Amino acid sequence: MGENTKAYVELKHINKTFGNYKASDDVNFTVEKGKLIGLLGPSGSGKTTILRILAGLENADSGEIYIDGKQVNEIPASKRGIGFVFQNYALFRYKTVFDNIAFGLKIQKKSKAEIKSRVDELIELVGLKGLEKRYPKQLSGGQRQRVAFARALATQPQLLLLDEPFAAIDAKVRKELRSWLRELINQVGITSIFVTHDQDEAIEVADEIIVTNKGKIEQIGTPVEVYSNPQTPFVVQFLGEPVTIKDFNQFKGFREKTKGDRAIIRPEFVTVTKKNEFNPYPVTTEEGIVERVAFRGNSLELTIRVHDELLLANRQIGQELIKEGEHVNVFLQRLYLVDDHGQNVAIAVNEALRQDESVVI
Ligand SMILES: Nc1ncnc2c1ncn2[C@@H]1O[C@H](COP(=O)(O)OP(=O)(O)OP(=O)(O)O)[C@@H](O)[C@H]1O
Ligand SMILES: [Mg+2]
Repeated sequence: MGENTKAYVELKHINKTFGNYKASDDVNFTVEKGKLIGLLGPSGSGKTTILRILAGLENADSGEIYIDGKQVNEIPASKRGIGFVFQNYALFRYKTVFDNIAFGLKIQKKSKAEIKSRVDELIELVGLKGLEKRYPKQLSGGQRQRVAFARALATQPQLLLLDEPFAAIDAKVRKELRSWLRELINQVGITSIFVTHDQDEAIEVADEIIVTNKGKIEQIGTPVEVYSNPQTPFVVQFLGEPVTIKDFNQFKGFREKTKGDRAIIRPEFVTVTKKNEFNPYPVTTEEGIVERVAFRGNSLELTIRVHDELLLANRQIGQELIKEGEHVNVFLQRLYLVDDHGQNVAIAVNEALRQDESVVI
């Protein structure tokens, strides 16, 4: 790609080795201006390394880095126009909220009046009015992260990098903060890349997700694309709540045209009905025995044995209860067929649904 695209950020063939570990293994991606990108991958997969190389805090062994069409390999971190937010708040403990946010502006030797007006504006933006004089230890975790955002935005960077910004925050506040972040970034319109190993976070917030594994990029796409059409065995296994089925040919509806080393199924593709409930696909429905029922707050998670394989399914609260030991109807909508040698993934749709489709067409 390069010069002819709208890419605002571009990494080309980035490699980085620590000792004998390849933390970046031929990393290539582009980011369009104004987009929010989620870097998603397991611990040690090289997410932070990518951010640090992009920011100029780490040198790549080889490869090129472009920001706004300009190669920045030789440009020092402080001159790349990048704002940073890290997971461990990293605020200055002995500075007030105001002075934390003002820090970069002071370094740039802005006038007092200019600093005051910009900091006031940011405090308003991140919703911390009235807390200007507090010290970090007098703030909640969520408030501290808001200060960190304001500080990162103070000098009007063109690119914002966020490394697990919510990692230290409890689940409920974390959820609030991520929608807040999404809105804030929309409002400011700043190109942003944020690292997370929480798939819900990436799926909910990002315009595009980049999945990393062992220093490599496995897949890039919108949350819907990556979640619904995983392209590699790793991505299938990483997203959603995957359950492996070894002997999938014994399942009705998947007996022909199914090739692969194993199949992966997610709970949302398993429909469970009680014996007395309506079953639209009797021909390709299996019988299963419920081994476990777990309460998950807004749903029940069922573990069901079918043909000696254990499947997971969800059932909404409010429907007639299903009990452990009960015989139920189990319908598998689709499987991901994984070919481990070829690193391929194919989707197999239950025959009954395929027939449905052909009727509709
Ligand atoms: N400065 C360093 N020296 C040696 N090894 C390093 C260094 N930085 C990173 N690594 C190694 O490179 C690999 C990738 O690390 P990185 O921090 O990029 O992973 P990550 O995806 O951010 O993981 P996490 O989710 O745990 O933060 C790891 O195996 C790590 O141990
Ligand atoms: Mg990291």
